[in-house]
Amino acid sequence: MSASHILVERKGAVQAIRMNRPEKKNAITRAMYAAMAAALISGDDDAGVRCHLILGVPGAFSAGNDIADFMAVAMGGDGGTEVFDFLMALATLAKPLVTAADGIAVGIGTTIHLHADLTLATPRTVFSTPFVDLGLVPEAGSSLIAPRLLGHQRAFALLGLGEGMPAGPAKAAGLIHDVIPEDGLEAAALALAERLAAKPPEALKLARDFMRGDRDDIVARIEAEGKAFRQRLSSDEARQAFMAFMSRGKT
Ligand code: COA
Repeated sequence: MSASHILVERKGAVQAIRMNRPEKKNAITRAMYAAMAAALISGDDDAGVRCHLILGVPGAFSAGNDIADFMAVAMGGDGGTEVFDFLMALATLAKPLVTAADGIAVGIGTTIHLHADLTLATPRTVFSTPFVDLGLVPEAGSSLIAPRLLGHQRAFALLGLGEGMPAGPAKAAGLIHDVIPEDGLEAAALALAERLAAKPPEALKLARDFMRGDRDDIVARIEAEGKAFRQRLSSDEARQAFMAFMSRGKT
């Protein structure tokens, strides 16, 4: 990975993590997961950081896990622990998380937001999770969190049917906090993160912990989903879907 695929920047008491692989619509590689996990953990440990912020690039929050990495596991390779490490860091964050999505938000590009406290998106953003279409299962604890948040039918449309959820309906459903025009997205997200960073940190942490509740069930679900996900990666259904994606336009 080029180190520039993940940019970590301090803006006062806000730590901003930017996925920056625009040429691949911010598809996330193992090295990118590792860099993001490290940044989340070090931000949580740093008393000077009071809020995490995760950003993408214009037009692409993320196209999800890099399908070439999926393919490598499907062909017998070792998937490593980077995805799991990132999901654990995300699900057990001690400090608040703001996310800002513009445009493409596929797979983990959607499920990340289930762990965010405030998410902003733009009118052209569509959240989608084609796990089943890829022969896979939902991840990141989404099979637990999404039905709780959205109700079974909306969660099933997203995670089972694989139907995209545009920003407007996502706000109405409670998946995101607000919809902001493209040119104001990042400033608005930073302003929200700065507002959180300016709160009394102990009171905010207590409030957030009460609202998030015990996260043991989410951690357990991430582990269970991860086990099924790894098995599914080498299924015929998944292999065929990855091959279809990777050979697009090559006739
Ligand atoms: N993994 C690896 N590469 C990806 C990728 C992914 N998840 N998503 C996009 N890319 C690559 C494309 O292969 C293409 O590479 P190339 O220029 O070398 O051919 C580049 O990023 C641009 O993508 P492209 O498909 O041309 O952009 P688009 O705007 O037409 O479509 C998407 C964007 C997100 C709709 C489409 O790329 C897509 O469906 N990606 C796969 C999403 C997915 O299933 N993710 C896994 C979820 S679990």
